[in-house]
Amino acid sequence: MSEMTEKKTVFSGVQPSGNLTIGNYLGAIKNFSRFSEEYKTFYCVVDLHAITVRQVPAELRRRTYETLALYMACGLDADKNTLFVQSHVPQHAELGWILDCYTMFGELSRMTQFKDKSAKHSQNINAGLFTYPALMAADILLYQTDIVPVGIDQKQHLELARDVAMRFNQIYSDTFRIPEGYIPTDTMKIMSLAEPTAKMSKSDPNQNAVVYILDSKDDIMRKFKRAVTDSDSVVRYSEDKPGVSNLMTIYRAFTGKSLDEIEREFDGRGYGEFKLAVGEACADGLAPVRAEFDRLIADKAYLEAVMKKGAEDAYHTARKTMSKVRRKIGFVG
Ligand code: TYM
Repeated sequence: MSEMTEKKTVFSGVQPSGNLTIGNYLGAIKNFSRFSEEYKTFYCVVDLHAITVRQVPAELRRRTYETLALYMACGLDADKNTLFVQSHVPQHAELGWILDCYTMFGELSRMTQFKDKSAKHSQNINAGLFTYPALMAADILLYQTDIVPVGIDQKQHLELARDVAMRFNQIYSDTFRIPEGYIPTDTMKIMSLAEPTAKMSKSDPNQNAVVYILDSKDDIMRKFKRAVTDSDSVVRYSEDKPGVSNLMTIYRAFTGKSLDEIEREFDGRGYGEFKLAVGEACADGLAPVRAEFDRLIADKAYLEAVMKKGAEDAYHTARKTMSKVRRKIGFVG
């Protein structure tokens, strides 16, 4: 890319609200580093989003460091990517409030994540949980983002961000770039190992349903051995075999083999062997991530330096957008 062409911008975020899963890894984080060279990339630990559900303060703090360390352990070089914590850049909250005023009650009411989370947390259906997508729109629009790599579960929020940006632009003239999603077709929705018709989620209370990026090899093998499949014992990708299909998706992601190759490889071999192979491939794929994570998490001062530099860098870009927004709306100064 020539010096003269402006680099396109990538933004994505992960909530430090639980231990990260192979869903987060395969659906999002693993893809982040592919943009590092050619794009201006912002990868954020979205702690403001995390408090829409009650968090234990010490755990939130620990997970914020861990998520940043995982970003790097998954291949994001702090010199080539802006890695930062959302609450360190106050413009997120500022633009979040402003966009609340351009986001409709009806739009927010239709968000499936809001419906799911309010069913799960019926004692704490707070206003932040409801306006969450407007804050997410602010995250993206602050950086004049072109591309947002996410799993399919974030598609609805992303579409709302686009709608809000277009609405704002229409009222006040061009202010925000309209972002596009980057949703990996092969791994956009990794399913629970216990209930393969439901998404694998970091907040699932059933530990056997979820493989965490930092799980030990023993845990990974045990979880895959117990994974729910079906009664016919044929390794074949099919809508009516959600458990096996999900394992094939995971195996494909870690080995690079095609679904046809996988079907042939396990022809006549049964689920027991297949599950062991998936476990091995997953554990082998994650081993270097875990080793790098262990090294990084031990150096808190370094992580703090990374987040400080990242916040300064993000602030610089966010401030430019905010001054434009303030002027257009008619705020003084
Ligand atoms: P979060 O923290 O729930 O998940 C982080 C990323 O992981 C993806 N993901 C999955 N992908 C495939 N299969 C799964 N089972 C799976 N589970 C999670 C998510 O799609 C996401 O890409 N609202 C966002 C965080 C956010 C954000 C943003 C993202 C806040 N502001 C701006 C992009 C841009 C969320 O809750 O992600």
